[in-house]
Amino acid sequence: MTYSIAAQVARFPNLVFRVVESIRRKAAQRDFSHSREASAEGKVFIVGAGPGDADLLTVKAHKLLQVADIVLFDWLVDASVLAMIPRHVKTEFVGKRSGKHSMPQQDICQRLVALGKAGYTVVRLKGGDPAVFARTCEETEALSANNIPFAIVPGITAASGASAYTGIPLTDRRCAQTVRLMTAHLQDPTKEPDWTSIAAAMKNETVVMYMGLKRLGMITSRLADVGVALDLPVAVVENACCHNQRVITGTLTTIAPSVAEAQIEGPALLIFGEVIHSRQQVSPELLKHYSHVSFV
Ligand SMILES: C[S@@+](CC[C@H](N)C(=O)[O-])C[C@H]1O[C@@H](n2cnc3c(N)ncnc32)[C@H](O)[C@@H]1O
Repeated sequence: MTYSIAAQVARFPNLVFRVVESIRRKAAQRDFSHSREASAEGKVFIVGAGPGDADLLTVKAHKLLQVADIVLFDWLVDASVLAMIPRHVKTEFVGKRSGKHSMPQQDICQRLVALGKAGYTVVRLKGGDPAVFARTCEETEALSANNIPFAIVPGITAASGASAYTGIPLTDRRCAQTVRLMTAHLQDPTKEPDWTSIAAAMKNETVVMYMGLKRLGMITSRLADVGVALDLPVAVVENACCHNQRVITGTLTTIAPSVAEAQIEGPALLIFGEVIHSRQQVSPELLKHYSHVSFV
C-alpha cells in the first residue's frame, strides 16, 4: 500500500489554506524592534494617499507601497488603498482622528525615527496630500534631526478630489479668482480665527474648510454675525471620491440644519462661495467603467 502526502493534503484544502495564511501572517508580523543589517540605510517616504478612490493614488506612491518594509497609515487612508499593499509588507495603524488620537504625534515621530535608524524602508501614508493639514513638518523635523533621509510624494488633497467628484469648481473667473484652504481645527481651541477677514475674503474667494464639520453651526453663526450674506451658497461634501460620497448644498442659514438632518458624520469639507452656483453635472460613475472606453 502506498501513502501519498499530496493526496492527503488534497483532502483538506481549507486546512491547507489556513496553515498557509497563518505562515503569511506570522511573516508579516515579524519583529520590527530589532535592527536590520547594519549596512542597510533606513529611509522614509511620506506619501499622500489621496482622498479615497484608490485609483487616484499616484504611480510613484503605488510603486513605493510595493517596495516598503513597513507602512504607517492614518485613519483617513481608504481601505481600497490599503488593499494595494502586498501581504509581506508590515502595516501599522497610527490613527489620528479628531478627538480620537490612537497614537500621539510625538510617538509617531519617534516610531519613524526608530524604524529609519533600524535600516527599514518606511512609507508614512497620509490621507490626501501630506502638505495640507497633515502635520508633516513635525515628522520631517524629527527625521532631519536624526539624519534619516526622507522624500515626500504628493497626493490629491480632499478639496481637489471633492471638486472633481462633485463638479463644484474651486475657482471661476466670474466669481472667485482665489481659493483659500483653511482648517477649522485650531491648535488653541480657546482662540477663534479672525472671522472679519474671512468674511471679507468670502466676497470674491472660495473658502474650503477642513475639519469644520463639528463646528458648522458655530462657524455659520459667527460668519453671519460679521456680516456675511445669509444667502451665501455653502456645500458640505462627505467622503469625497468614495463610493459613499454625499453632497449637501444650501446657504449660510440653511446648511447647518440640513447637515444635521442628513446625519453627515464625515470626513467632510465645507465649501463657501459663489462657485457652488457654477456646479457642473459630472458623472463620477463613468470613472468606474473606463475599461470599456473605445479608441477612435
Ligand atoms: C487632518 S485633515 C487631512 C487633510 C489631508 N491631508 C488632505 O490633503 O486632504 C482631515 C480633514 O480633511 C478632510 N477630508 C479628508 N479626506 C476627505 C474626504 N475624502 N472627503 C471629505 N473631506 C475629507 C476632512 O475635513 C477631514 O476632517
